[in-house]
Amino acid sequence: MKAKIVVGLQWGDEGKGKIVDYLSKDVDLVVRYQGGANAGHTIVIGSKKYVLHLIPSGIIRGKLSYIGNGVVVDLEELLKEIETLESMGVSVKNLKISSGAHLLFQFHKYIDMINENEKGKRAIGTTGSGIGPCYVDKYNRTGIRVGDLIDKTLFIQKLKERINFYNNNFKSKESFIRIDEKRYIETILEKREKILKMIVYPDLFATEIIKRKMKILFESAQGTLLDVDFGTYPFVTSSNPLSYAAFTGSGIPQYFDYKVIGVAKCYSTRVGNGPFPARMDEDTENFVREKGKEFGATTGRKRNCGWLDLVALKYAVFLNRTDEIAMTKFDILSDMKKIKVLTGYEIDGKRLENFPRNVEQLSMVKPIFVDFEPWSMRELEDLKRKKFSKSILKFLEFVQKSLGTNITHITTGSERKDIIKINV
Ligand code: GDP
Ligand code: IMO
Ligand code: MG
Repeated sequence: MKAKIVVGLQWGDEGKGKIVDYLSKDVDLVVRYQGGANAGHTIVIGSKKYVLHLIPSGIIRGKLSYIGNGVVVDLEELLKEIETLESMGVSVKNLKISSGAHLLFQFHKYIDMINENEKGKRAIGTTGSGIGPCYVDKYNRTGIRVGDLIDKTLFIQKLKERINFYNNNFKSKESFIRIDEKRYIETILEKREKILKMIVYPDLFATEIIKRKMKILFESAQGTLLDVDFGTYPFVTSSNPLSYAAFTGSGIPQYFDYKVIGVAKCYSTRVGNGPFPARMDEDTENFVREKGKEFGATTGRKRNCGWLDLVALKYAVFLNRTDEIAMTKFDILSDMKKIKVLTGYEIDGKRLENFPRNVEQLSMVKPIFVDFEPWSMRELEDLKRKKFSKSILKFLEFVQKSLGTNITHITTGSERKDIIKINV
């Protein structure tokens, strides 16, 4: 029994959804283990485009799909997602949710907005999905879990307490919006009915998975540089996208070997605030953003675009114990005048040996770039016939050597079919 973990090696939006969809063909179970509806994972199949926020991408192939305890579940978003999927002909009958996952409520989203407004210029630029405040409740031990939905009376009592807490404690804030207790509880109870049948107890679920030696694919959300412990804190999300969080975030004990597939674009993007040393010049960035459709899958915000940052990538590859890399969006850099790769950071003329220790340091670095010859779309097509052009080969060999890890797949378009297995 061997599991696979798909993680983002940059700042999110690397193309994890597409890679999970590809790999899910050969597995029995796909698991989300952290984050919430801040994620937006896109899968394009012919003329159909699916964007998943909470539900594992394996659902598109009808695979058993599990939302683990590490995820924060917004019932409104979840039901919207279920409706959209069903309207597109995708069944969610194989969707299960851990009783240990925390519920994310409207007041979490309001607190997220209040916090951001209060920070002013220092705002994180969150997706506004309530992620931070919901994890605060979890770790403050004041959260409400999916399993609490089962006992209706107790659930109502717990939710009332939390609504009162919010209404009383945040009312003096400038952007405060009051929650109408009665109306809000009614809407949540409606949703509760639809979710009850999906709830499973993690120990029983995991026992079954292990006993049946199921092939598991773990799907991370966000990316390593947004990890709350190892990312560019405080410009991060509030969970651990790192590979090894897959086990705590799912409650599936690691009684098996696993392989980590890191996903990275052949350039970088970052949405939200925080330093981004590899950022392209304005004209190039505008060009790449338009060509690469670099707008948030969840919020529609413009993503900042930069060149491939090998310093940050090396750090991420190491932390995840990455076995192989899937590199995406090669078509976007095709036929450009020049391509750059960031190979080092300098402060006061001195090369840094490690990834900067804090955002203050990261925002001071001078990026060192190396130029590469661009490739053409025709050359990308040739890869399907195992024919590597000089420019692609040079780029791939350089990146692999710098990272000490093989690139095993590259993608050349948004569609399911645009994935090429390579061996350089
Ligand atoms: P995720 O959050 O990591 O799953 O990534 P997103 O779905 O947010 O963003 C990746 C975007 O790039 C999506 O719109 C994908 O359809 C698209 N995409 C993925 N691979 C490729 C590729 O090779 N070429 C192009 N043009 N688009 C791609
Ligand atoms: P996927 O799974 C890209 C970013 C936000 C912000 C920071 C904190 O699609 O890769 P949060 O709402 O989590 O409190 O925001 O994290 N962010 C993402 N950026 N892709 C994502 O998910 C993201 N989820 C959160 O823009 O900078
Ligand atoms: Mg995304």
